[in-house]
Amino acid sequence: MQKIGVLTSGGDAPGMNAAIRAVVRRGVSLGMEVVGVRRGYAGLISGDFAPLSLSSVGDIIQRGGTILRTARSDRMMQPEGPLEALAQAQAAGIEGLVVIGGDGSFRGALKLAALGLPAVGVPGTIDNDIYGTDLTIGFDTAVNTSLDAIRKIRDTATSHDRTFVMEVMGRNSGWIALAAGLAGGAESILIPEFPVSMDEVINRLQRGSERGKRHSVIIVAEGAGQGFKIGEEIKNRTGFDTRVTVLGHIQRGGAPSAVDAMLACRLGARAAELLMEGRGGLFVGQLNNEVVAQPLEHMLDKHRTVPHELVELAEQLAI
Ligand code: F6P
Repeated sequence: MQKIGVLTSGGDAPGMNAAIRAVVRRGVSLGMEVVGVRRGYAGLISGDFAPLSLSSVGDIIQRGGTILRTARSDRMMQPEGPLEALAQAQAAGIEGLVVIGGDGSFRGALKLAALGLPAVGVPGTIDNDIYGTDLTIGFDTAVNTSLDAIRKIRDTATSHDRTFVMEVMGRNSGWIALAAGLAGGAESILIPEFPVSMDEVINRLQRGSERGKRHSVIIVAEGAGQGFKIGEEIKNRTGFDTRVTVLGHIQRGGAPSAVDAMLACRLGARAAELLMEGRGGLFVGQLNNEVVAQPLEHMLDKHRTVPHELVELAEQLAI
């Protein structure tokens, strides 16, 4: 291939810029031209392109967000969207495409590959919910951001003998809540995959209080309930002095951790190599520390859920 495109799609994630840089630097070193597509599939459909040179991706490896900007495109979900995207790519001479994003973005890549445009997915989402990779780009940074917040909340919870509810991101995925909650020693972790009743949460709090525990931190993934509602119920049923923190989009920003920056370098470079070899319809991931490429179909209708043993471990250690 002589000319490839790269886009970021869906929710942004720390490390997306490092992945763009890797696609460009590896692509150019292999003799290809690399074109940036702005605002994800929306920009592909409208032909919003900009050439990316070696120097245009200088000094972005450490920056959060995405220099290409991102969007969630409804049009790409309609039957005509992928056809319009293909026509724009062909008109610009783009022969292959790297798609950095989550599972929705990969579905778009699969449609383009089926239409004859080789596309390679690079998993970039803080949710860590892509089947076929041990990690997604952005997850580690989001967990570290949440862990930092838990530790700060714990300081003030201890000083005031308070119960804190902290809501973290994850509409369908409890990965951030579980990883940050386990590493932060949370008393309870509420995630969508393995629901626990409010009775259970409150019993646990009360048992802790009877043993002399004077403060608690409860982590809630947004898909498992609203932090403010849960905090209200705890306060009403226990009388404990309760406060709520909703971490929100802070988790999506910031410089990528070393883990995310390295992952982005490895996966982005491999994606460019695959296109150079003329291979599309694939996504790259990291399994047991090896970079692997698998057919995009392999992740369709599958969801990488949190392992139950980690949930159990968090409960065992929070007694
Ligand atoms: O998919 C990433 C994610 O941050 C989810 O964890 C969260 O539920 C969602 O995106 C939030 O989306 P938006 O940025 O559109 O509010």
